[in-house]
Amino acid sequence: MTDQRLEGIKACVFDAYGTLFDVNTAAKHCAGELGDKWQPLANMWRLRQLEYTWLRSLMGAYVDFWQVTAEALDFAMASLEIADKDGLRQRLLDLYLQLDAYPEVPAVLKTLKAAGFKTAVLSNGSPEMLQSAVDNAGIGDSLDAVLSVHSLGIFKPAPQVYQMAVDTLAVAPDEISFQSSNAWDAHAASHFGFRVAWINRFGQARERMPGAPDVELTALDELLPVLGAAA
Ligand code: LAC
Repeated sequence: MTDQRLEGIKACVFDAYGTLFDVNTAAKHCAGELGDKWQPLANMWRLRQLEYTWLRSLMGAYVDFWQVTAEALDFAMASLEIADKDGLRQRLLDLYLQLDAYPEVPAVLKTLKAAGFKTAVLSNGSPEMLQSAVDNAGIGDSLDAVLSVHSLGIFKPAPQVYQMAVDTLAVAPDEISFQSSNAWDAHAASHFGFRVAWINRFGQARERMPGAPDVELTALDELLPVLGAAA
């Protein structure tokens, strides 16, 4: 899909979990103990984590993403009857602070910054979680801002979260290219008014939701030609 182009973009804003950082890697690093349950655990942990954010936002019962992440892990471990043996739960949580970045991420961010785009992360993650993941991936120098929902006390896809990127970066919504692997986040960001690249890493079907991604890519390095910032 190299013929896809986005014009007039001044800032590139990235979702964190699933987009820059591989959320499967925490459970995968414990595959020796989890056996064939590592993937079901990773899936259920992630799904409940997201569901809890949406539900808490609707309930007006915000707590930070670290607490949500721990509570989702507890549910997933109980559901799959995974015992907390030898500190497994704490190790899984510690690993979540050091998730692997997808391999193309450091070079893509560096290239975009060198090409003159503003760059930022916009995420549900707590400030501490995001700083830890950014430091672990060594991408801090390529980012102008790391924006957490925490100061707003509500999670994506509340529109005020996307507005925070507009206010912080001082660019119009349609001058922002927003990248997310999470289809619901991509649709919500498009509905808000961003230009959106859906990084459809897993070949998922299109959602039936408001908003529509402008381009669909399979990995972040495909974004460079779309923005005319070829490496
Ligand atoms: C985030 C979640 C949605 O980083 O992946 O905001």
